[in-house]
Amino acid sequence: MAIKNIKKWRSIIIPSCFKNHNNLDTKSQVFKQIPPSRISLSDFSYPGSPLCLSDLSSSKFASNLHIFTLPELKLITNGFSSSNFLGEGGFGPVHKGFVSETAGRPGLEAQPVAVKLLDLDGDQGHREWLTEVVLLGQLRHPHLVKLIGYCCEDEQRLLVYEYMTRGNLENHLFRRYTSSLPWLTRMKIAVGAAKGLAFLHGEEKPVIYRDFKTSNILLDSDYNAKLSDFGLAKDGPEGDDTHVSTRIMGTHGYAAPEYIMTGHLTAMNDVYSFGVVLLELLTGKRAMDKARPAREQNLVEWAKPYLKDHHHKIERLIDPTLEDQYSSQGAKKVASLANQCLSHNPKYRPTMSHVVRILESILEYSDIPAGPFVYVAPTEVKIDAKVSENEATCKENGDQVDEGGDVKKEYSKQKTKGYRHKHQIKVRAVYTDTHVYNKTLRDEIKN
Ligand SMILES: Nc1ncnc2c1ncn2[C@@H]1O[C@H](COP(=O)(O)OP(=O)(O)OP(=O)(O)O)[C@@H](O)[C@H]1O
Ligand SMILES: [Mg+2]
Repeated sequence: MAIKNIKKWRSIIIPSCFKNHNNLDTKSQVFKQIPPSRISLSDFSYPGSPLCLSDLSSSKFASNLHIFTLPELKLITNGFSSSNFLGEGGFGPVHKGFVSETAGRPGLEAQPVAVKLLDLDGDQGHREWLTEVVLLGQLRHPHLVKLIGYCCEDEQRLLVYEYMTRGNLENHLFRRYTSSLPWLTRMKIAVGAAKGLAFLHGEEKPVIYRDFKTSNILLDSDYNAKLSDFGLAKDGPEGDDTHVSTRIMGTHGYAAPEYIMTGHLTAMNDVYSFGVVLLELLTGKRAMDKARPAREQNLVEWAKPYLKDHHHKIERLIDPTLEDQYSSQGAKKVASLANQCLSHNPKYRPTMSHVVRILESILEYSDIPAGPFVYVAPTEVKIDAKVSENEATCKENGDQVDEGGDVKKEYSKQKTKGYRHKHQIKVRAVYTDTHVYNKTLRDEIKN
């Protein structure tokens, strides 16, 4: 959850967003102000900015995006039904949907999608929604989740993304459906996520992601990692500026100490958060966990002495569920890299492009013991709402579309406090890292 609450969006609404005006003067003003490269978030951030929603559709980047109506999104998500529910974060609930060719939109393929609905009683709002539309409308990369479109009707704000079959990394790492994530799969995910951050930092106008954590790393069917949730992202410093000053936002356990102390934001804040996630991948432990003994609750504090002496203490760090199925050389290098990313002084942290190079070299290590073939017999398990995206990959939705009733009403029916979805899923056969698996995965990652 966010460190600080975000102001409600009602106070920062751009009034003209809600008027369907086609004022030519406004439009010509817009085009004059759109720079040839990426439009900055700051172009939208002050009240009265001419870059408002009614102009979004005519701006260059929004031609990548489809504008959906609320009834359309209700239809494709079975009326935001509980059987389509994937999970919920600070923005609001997320439901699976399916866009069919009959949607009649040129350029929109039939495909599964994830529809994120703004919770009007939540902490996030129009600002975060607009940040997401403006950034993901312009930035396209294999390691950023693809925004397909949006919906803005009255107070309702929705976002439509490509559907990521395997949900988020947090669920795979900490809420184990089957067996432990294999070592090379962890490394593949780390490389993908690092490439996503390196892309954002390497842009002509760099972007600081600000909310790098396992729940924001989504996985496709081949465990390709894509960054999602750009609501907290910020334009990086420009010109001679060394940092941007911001309200302190992010998630406990992931934000860099200097950012928490000063609010000064640089790309090195993301590098620190990357170090925390790398440590989570290495140890299988959450960044923060109140259920652990007091001295171990903060993962970084607990791990620091072992990271510094990783040559001798790697066994104390490594996720025991990996058993011996990992590269010992690779694990030491990951520990050393995590230690650099977590340097107290941001000057000693590596850049994300350097991190990508190191991680790619770790994929080359072949000192992984050949593991036994493991077959997990199909069984029935109960899962909670946060892991239900896995269930969505296993069955298609059978619920009837619920006509009528507004979205808020529909959703509030499901949002009873403590409500947990109990679905049955079939667990698939899984394999541990064998040499065959290693080779296939390495070849695949290189391509
Ligand atoms: N494109 C997508 N494809 C599949 N599942 C998704 C997609 N986007 C989000 N989800 C799932 O929806 C749930 C809510 O995601 P969301 O990003 O809103 O919140 P979060 O990351 O859990 O929390 P936070 O608000 O702290 O970032 C998560 O379980 C996530 O895996
Ligand atoms: Mg998220």
